Amino acid sequence: MSVTRCDQTPAWAALQSHHAGAGRAFDLRSAFAADAGRVAAFSLDAPEIHADLSKNHWGATVQGLLLQLARECALEARRDAMLAGEPINHTEGRAVLHTALRAPRGAAPCSDDVHGVLDRMLDWVEQVRDTARSGIRHVVNIGIGGSDLGPQMVVPALDAYASRTLTLHFVSNVDGHDIAPVLRRLDPRETLVIVASKTFTTQETMANAQVARAWFLAGYGEGGEAAIAQHFAATTTNVEAAGKFGITTTFGFWDWVGGRYSLWSAIGLPIALAIGAANFRDLLAGAHAMDRHFASAPLASNLPIQLGLLDVWYRNFLGYSSRSIAPYHQGLRRLPAYLQQLEMESNGKCVDLDGQALPYATCPVVWGEAGTNGQHAYFQMLHQGTDVIPVEFVAVKTPNHGPDVPEVLKAGLADQHIKLLANCLAQSQALMLGKSTAEALGEKAPTASAQLDAQTVARHRTFPGNRPSSTFVLESLTPASLGALIALYEHRVWTSGALWGINSFDQWGVELGKALCNQLLPRFASGDTAGLDGSTAALLQRLLGR
Ligand code: F6P
Repeated sequence: MSVTRCDQTPAWAALQSHHAGAGRAFDLRSAFAADAGRVAAFSLDAPEIHADLSKNHWGATVQGLLLQLARECALEARRDAMLAGEPINHTEGRAVLHTALRAPRGAAPCSDDVHGVLDRMLDWVEQVRDTARSGIRHVVNIGIGGSDLGPQMVVPALDAYASRTLTLHFVSNVDGHDIAPVLRRLDPRETLVIVASKTFTTQETMANAQVARAWFLAGYGEGGEAAIAQHFAATTTNVEAAGKFGITTTFGFWDWVGGRYSLWSAIGLPIALAIGAANFRDLLAGAHAMDRHFASAPLASNLPIQLGLLDVWYRNFLGYSSRSIAPYHQGLRRLPAYLQQLEMESNGKCVDLDGQALPYATCPVVWGEAGTNGQHAYFQMLHQGTDVIPVEFVAVKTPNHGPDVPEVLKAGLADQHIKLLANCLAQSQALMLGKSTAEALGEKAPTASAQLDAQTVARHRTFPGNRPSSTFVLESLTPASLGALIALYEHRVWTSGALWGINSFDQWGVELGKALCNQLLPRFASGDTAGLDGSTAALLQRLLGR
């Protein structure tokens, strides 16, 4: 399919001239004052998620032009091509079918393969979760990137649903300071180690797997070799390599599942072990509901598409180079890290589909922290810094501390939840409303220096306001709503990537560092610095103590 690049469309030119003219002076406070219907006009409901996009720097004209841009880039036809399994990851000649992993039986390509592995994996999961019988109390997932971040994010998010007799641990870094403190506290006889790697070649994962194997054999004692079958499992597309490693319990997946889109596949094994088969199926169902919305809702009410369009407006016309994620739920504390890989590994590209250098910016920096913690760290900059950084708040209406929460804690926890939600709303309000110097002048500032005049103090206490944010509201954090939320982000990343005309599904940018690392490794033994650049040579010598 031929792809029209966003900057070659009439809509792009129209957006440019709108921005150069009337659009330049957009002010949120005036927009709300002028239009009582603004919240309704810029709010959307998608499966499990209500989105208030009204506190963003756009109005009807921009939204209309962005829709025109989507049409001129044939976004719907390209979405349909992805969902149908066309090889849209053209640099690797692969289809992109993570949506097939969560589709009901028979509803998407590769259904028999997908459901065959899923059924087998979930049967096995229930055997392990019967901890009285299996003897397993701890699960250590060894993986990195997409083979780590999804499960590591989802497991704490769904703690209310998690087994109370199985504890999940995650090891990813090649740094032994990651695995050593985990293994030190575990008994091999009670431990299941999952080696999670799409390729089964990743340096970090293989190094940690070797250490875990040695630890297991040393700690298990007699019969250790035979016991590996019960205590090690692999999730991979390279079942053969896992076999060579000595792992016989394997759950496979396919090259059309990108690493950062893989938590729905066998890579989700630690999630299923934590929350059980039925809840894992609910997670898939929630994502599938969002897939259906993405596939069929009109562009104007299609939440992932609207978010992707807004991302392009912000990045290419308003020049916002980062976006901050603020999940107001402690269980979602790893969501920013997860989204960093999802978005930045997907859209951190500087050439178009033909390999031509792009004349415009692509992926923003994605970062953040759970609220309210972020408020006490970097929100200062969001409110008064020189950069405008759109913030994305995720609020959960009803808390769920699990069925076993002690009665005595309930009142206090309910009170904390109200405080959490009030903080969430207050931050987006403060970002938008700001505080004028005149307002600041009218207030007492008890901690201000007596050496300063009131005007100076007021200028320091002024908030520019007009800072944009989106707020997503989930009724409660369930497997289904979390599945929908993650799928929403996946499709939003696809949308901006498709408009930018890049391949969101390869990751060649990680290769060079890996190759240079392999070339450097022997130099750590030999101390040979010949041919190295001056800085690397000097650092190597310093690290070797020479
Ligand atoms: O380094 C990047 C990457 O290839 C990611 O895309 C991937 O999620 C991660 O490494 C882990 O790869 P694997 O699952 O093959 O070990």
